[in-house]
Amino acid sequence: MLQTREMFNKIHKRYDMLNHLMSAGRDIAWRKKCCKKLPKKENAVVLDLCGGTGDFSLAFKKILGDPKFSIVGDFAGKMLSVAAQKSPDLIPVQMDATDIPLADGSVDIILNGFGMRNIKNLDLAFSEAFRVLKQGGSFATLEFFKPEKKIATFFYQKIAPLAIPFAGMMFSKRNAYRYLVLSILSFITSKEYAAKARAAGFALRSIKSLDGGLAHMVLLEKK
Ligand SMILES: C[S@@+](CC[C@H](N)C(=O)[O-])C[C@H]1O[C@@H](n2cnc3c(N)ncnc32)[C@H](O)[C@@H]1O
Repeated sequence: MLQTREMFNKIHKRYDMLNHLMSAGRDIAWRKKCCKKLPKKENAVVLDLCGGTGDFSLAFKKILGDPKFSIVGDFAGKMLSVAAQKSPDLIPVQMDATDIPLADGSVDIILNGFGMRNIKNLDLAFSEAFRVLKQGGSFATLEFFKPEKKIATFFYQKIAPLAIPFAGMMFSKRNAYRYLVLSILSFITSKEYAAKARAAGFALRSIKSLDGGLAHMVLLEKK
């Protein structure tokens, strides 16, 4: 199994195309839906953590307008280079989500799209996110959690293990897409995720299942 950073660096050129293909374009709708649930704040400092190619930040800008700073943080430099090419408004910063190079209480909104599942030390990532958020700040997660609903369980156990690596093989690195399915099945459920977030100090605003539980949106607040 490739190391996570190396794996994302290898697939950076085709990441967006495959993301849209494998989710049948739903990833775009999910990011927009999530941004619509966020409070509108003037001059917001936004950190798109595990932001990769920057699509969550761009969805935020489209729905809520230009933030003061739009930081895309990721440890895979090549994913960030794609983000940098998409818009001069994005500020790519190479960082590890478990050691964020930002001051305490400096961020209004943290976005995390399909990133938390890849982090080895989730508790540390939560405590770092909590540290850099301002009081009253929001943390929005979009993720493929371990499935609980019947349809999602059937999809991830029976269909995805064949279909997703096959699509990955057609266009890119097959192992990376085998990893995608394994990482979903071995991740925690959305409820377990919310419990970890609470243990780190966050208040849970909402958990919403998207498309029959294929993905979930979790909104947290630092009260
Ligand atoms: C599935 S991609 C998601 C990209 C983007 N957020 C999106 O919505 O499409 C996951 C990203 O998380 C990054 N990542 C994984 N673990 C990380 C960590 N510990 N610190 C920073 N970035 C990490 C990877 O490099 C990759 O770019």
